[in-house]
Amino acid sequence: MVGSIFGLSEYPVTVFLTSFLNFASAMTKKISKVVVLGTGGTIAGWAPDPDQTRQYRAGEVAVDDLVRGIKPSGLQIETEDVARIDSKNMGWSEWQRLVARLAHWLAQEEVRGVVVTHGTDTLEETAILLHALFPSGKTIVITGAMRAANVSEPDGPGNLKDALAVASAPGRAGVLGVFAGQVHAAASLTKLDSQALSAFASADPVPIAVAIQNLDALQARFARQPTHPVDLDVAEFGRVSYWPRVEMVHNHAAQDGGLVRTIMSTDGKPAGWVVAGTGNGTMSQGLEDALSEAQQQGAWVWRTTRCTWGQVQAQSGDRFGLVSPLNPYKARVVMVLALLANAVKRRGPERPGP
Ligand code: SIN
Repeated sequence: MVGSIFGLSEYPVTVFLTSFLNFASAMTKKISKVVVLGTGGTIAGWAPDPDQTRQYRAGEVAVDDLVRGIKPSGLQIETEDVARIDSKNMGWSEWQRLVARLAHWLAQEEVRGVVVTHGTDTLEETAILLHALFPSGKTIVITGAMRAANVSEPDGPGNLKDALAVASAPGRAGVLGVFAGQVHAAASLTKLDSQALSAFASADPVPIAVAIQNLDALQARFARQPTHPVDLDVAEFGRVSYWPRVEMVHNHAAQDGGLVRTIMSTDGKPAGWVVAGTGNGTMSQGLEDALSEAQQQGAWVWRTTRCTWGQVQAQSGDRFGLVSPLNPYKARVVMVLALLANAVKRRGPERPGP
């Protein structure tokens, strides 16, 4: 049948009506759009021999292929590969691109949330970076997997499905981690197990089903986990072309601070140090002396703890900054951002924390 309405003399009326009804139904159902940004990792890993589960290359599978087959109904999904890397190689240029693409998609009114697929090894560092730069607002869910995509019983599809459910739920939760059936706060999410499928833990994990019922309340609950505020916005981050060098040093038995002194005597010496201290962020006299010398040369020094749980308490006469409860790896990311914020705003070095 050929119709003649609206001058579409060759346009079949059935096709026209079907398109119109689909459009009208989409408008009334308000189909949510979720964007999935791929960065690589084991979730996108491919094993040449699927029986050799540990012999695989991370970041081989395009994110569109990961999403195919698990698309929930009533959800419109866009995919984009931002990177296809093993997250041990994650760096500032990949982060800068990821942040730019996140900002682009989050600004689209019809996008309800974004999922980022990521390798598990540095997932917590990306989580804190995004948390610092997108402190509240639409939901950003970061997820990954411990098994490559093509081995028997991969955990990636389940994690991705959960991540899509959280990212498309009503409300705004800011940055979350989703892994093995649980939702984690970006501030405390940490990889605790190098092998188990439930590799991540956090201070206050919430089951998926509970989280998707009220994302706004979840955001408020997770906001109680303090993080050092960073006065740097996404546009400023996008313009940065120089990344301050921040090194980490651990306290341990027989730590004499020699490493700090050696590195501080080189060209391009660090602008900051994060100490993974013992217990309450403590350190040997040798390390404290070396870091005090570094501080006198203008370097920032923050104390954290190498313990997984518990906070670092301020001590009287503290000469170094605190960013408790961030772990050393997260603190390092935040210190770079804080140094950048200072450089951008020309404030000069300042001592963060209490
Ligand atoms: C990676 O971090 O990219 C590899 C390891 C993983 O995803 O589990």
